[in-house]
Amino acid sequence: MPGMFQGLLFGAVWAAAVGCPLPVPGQGGTLLKIGGNCWTRCIAVTVIRKLWTCQAVKTAIRTRDKPRKPALVTIVSRQWREWLWRQVPRYGRILEVGVGTGKNIPFHPREAQVIGIDISPKMLARAERRKKKIGANTELRLGDAQALDLPADSVDAAVATFVFCSVPDPVLGFRELRRVVRPDGQVYLLEHMRSANAFIGQLMDFVNPLVAATMGFNINRRTLENIKMSGLEIEHIQDVGLGGIFKTIVARPKK
Ligand SMILES: C[S@@+](CC[C@H](N)C(=O)[O-])C[C@H]1O[C@@H](n2cnc3c(N)ncnc32)[C@H](O)[C@@H]1O
Repeated sequence: MPGMFQGLLFGAVWAAAVGCPLPVPGQGGTLLKIGGNCWTRCIAVTVIRKLWTCQAVKTAIRTRDKPRKPALVTIVSRQWREWLWRQVPRYGRILEVGVGTGKNIPFHPREAQVIGIDISPKMLARAERRKKKIGANTELRLGDAQALDLPADSVDAAVATFVFCSVPDPVLGFRELRRVVRPDGQVYLLEHMRSANAFIGQLMDFVNPLVAATMGFNINRRTLENIKMSGLEIEHIQDVGLGGIFKTIVARPKK
């Protein structure tokens, strides 16, 4: 695919240089045209072609689908993750649901027995690589947040970050957390959700089908209501970003 793209681009640059400018679709203008006489155009094309075929550019093309960091959201969310994990007990058995690529693994308490589950084998493979790289002892397992393969009251705490926007039935997922967390244990969440602002909330409802279809997650989940419906009791909520769309939440099984 990059080869085809490269060929097309080179063809376009060449056509522009030899005086066959590319038309802008639907407009009368020109997308790309190299000025000057024939020699300067040829030199320009040669330089562009060299740049295009140089190793750094090839590497950039090859790695464009791979995770690039640090994106702004990664930097910002790191602070939220740090805060959340500082609240989590340092000992005992801790479950992380939807571990993903393992962005939280650096925060997993070393003295605790941490189990990270995810429904996606691809995500787990990436988490496994990250775990090895940093030498963590997290146990990674394939699993569904909606049907946890753990006995009732078997973990001291459960953590999830940016997960319940993509779990198909979030109330079922929260119910499972309530079931596996000890009665005096806690659930720590970092999630984005539907805005409490009526206008923005409706806008999120309107855009959600497109986001869900293209990105695979929902931006209009009523997460606080879902938590309450599951039999968890919210102890602490903190708005961390975008006017309360991003929140950290600490909940515990309702007595
Ligand atoms: C947006 S990613 C977040 C990953 C990670 N928690 C983080 O903060 O970077 C959502 C993750 O939830 C996982 N997930 C979605 N539905 C799930 C389910 N039903 N059970 C377990 N994991 C699920 C996805 O595979 C994905 O890895």
